[in-house]
Amino acid sequence: MLLRQCLGNSGHIAILSLHNQSRYQISDNNMNNYKRNILITGGAGFIGSHVVRLFVRKYPEYHIINLDKLTYAGNLANLSDIEQAPNYSFVKADIADLDDMRHIIRDNNIDGIIHLAAESHVDRSIRDPFTFARTNVMGTLALLQAAREYWESLPEKFEGKLFYHISTDEVYGALELTAPQGIESPFSTKASSEHHHAYGEEFFVESTPYNPHSPYSASKASSDHFVRAYHDTYGMPTLVTNCSNNYGPYQFPEKLIPLFINNIRHRKPLPVYGKGENVRDWLFVEDHARAIDLIFHKGKVADTYNIGGFNEWKNIDIIKVLIRTVDRLLGNPEGYSDSLITYVTDRAGHDLRYAIDSRKLQKELGWEPSLQFEEGIERTVKWYLDNQPWVDRITSGDYQKYYEEMYANR
Ligand code: NAD
Ligand code: DAU
Repeated sequence: MLLRQCLGNSGHIAILSLHNQSRYQISDNNMNNYKRNILITGGAGFIGSHVVRLFVRKYPEYHIINLDKLTYAGNLANLSDIEQAPNYSFVKADIADLDDMRHIIRDNNIDGIIHLAAESHVDRSIRDPFTFARTNVMGTLALLQAAREYWESLPEKFEGKLFYHISTDEVYGALELTAPQGIESPFSTKASSEHHHAYGEEFFVESTPYNPHSPYSASKASSDHFVRAYHDTYGMPTLVTNCSNNYGPYQFPEKLIPLFINNIRHRKPLPVYGKGENVRDWLFVEDHARAIDLIFHKGKVADTYNIGGFNEWKNIDIIKVLIRTVDRLLGNPEGYSDSLITYVTDRAGHDLRYAIDSRKLQKELGWEPSLQFEEGIERTVKWYLDNQPWVDRITSGDYQKYYEEMYANR
């Protein structure tokens, strides 16, 4: 398989060759020179690309291997600034292919896995649940099994190894909206917005029972259970974290924030599901990546940490912030794009409120977000407006078909 084909004009990059007997060996990097060989799955996606960038830059002594199938959501252009780093390699592979996972993990002497590869969009899961079960459940299982087989075959077995699984707050289900007007949030972090509201008294904590509602969250919940089962049954060192909604550069424009920025720019309708009353808890993606770094190195094996910034927003309010920010940055008069707001049929099974309590992570590992929401959203809107070619490239072709299917006659 010619992986270079996927890279366009990206130039030289260390790629794992997939040709012959020694397939999956590093082509350019000598893995023995590195202190650790870390496999990051889904590294060409939104959050994964920020994690890969952080690790490649911060840990030149680690070899970082980005494994990604390059689905519609995977884009190597997200990593063009680090792809030539000597400690970075890329391999195109499907996590659900057990045999490939065995080869990649064994041949590259992988000692740590940060697993982000997944189908991640709730609306797509409603239309095509099987793809979500295949990748999120069977894919995670294949990765677990391949890691277990390799690590158990080593003299030191699981010592110094870690399988870190990235999950979501959606597995906990939905919280009530008991305070629709907003009350002062009982807790805050640097990420909390100026308005600093909570829309209910309850928060998701690490012991909240799982209660997923969408095929996406059901598949993520199932994968979380498999990860914990591999610890409890085989003694494999695993860790799970559950994070709230991320926003920031490189997010595929099917998700609320990048989709709406792009639509405002192009004066297209803004499809607000239901009444726009649903609440999400937003965290800047780089702060999630910093939390992953901290937890990968300092987290307690077999434990779970919630990640979030105590930053709840009703969809309609965040949409108004986006409109104001895009209009201001484009030099439009205030209120210019308000008329684009279009209420459409609600998402099936739409969870009402997510709100993460991340105090355990703050208390035990000292994690604190670095960016307040107002600054993060300004940076994000600017990034999308300044990177229109990135948006244009991925919103051509298949994306148009998806958009038609998802939003026409809604
Ligand atoms: P994304 O859709 O942007 O990226 C997913 C990546 O996984 C893509 O690069 C894709 O090509 C790759 N991938 C998909 N199927 C694969 C397969 N079978 N084999 C190998 N690679 C495959 O997703 P994201 O928003 O960056 O989310 C990353 C992870 O974080 C997911 O596990 C998601 O559940 C979790 N998460 C996301 C958020 C969020 O707000 N986006 C919040 C909490 C947790
Ligand atoms: O909470 C973490 C989760 O956040 C992650 O696990 C998921 O991978 C990620 O996609 C995200 O899920 P959401 O469903 O919350 O994100 P999305 O951007 O799709 O939607 C955010 C809110 O905006 C949600 O209430 C639905 C609403 N929405 C979304 C779209 C795409 C609209 O009103 N209109 C839209 O067109």
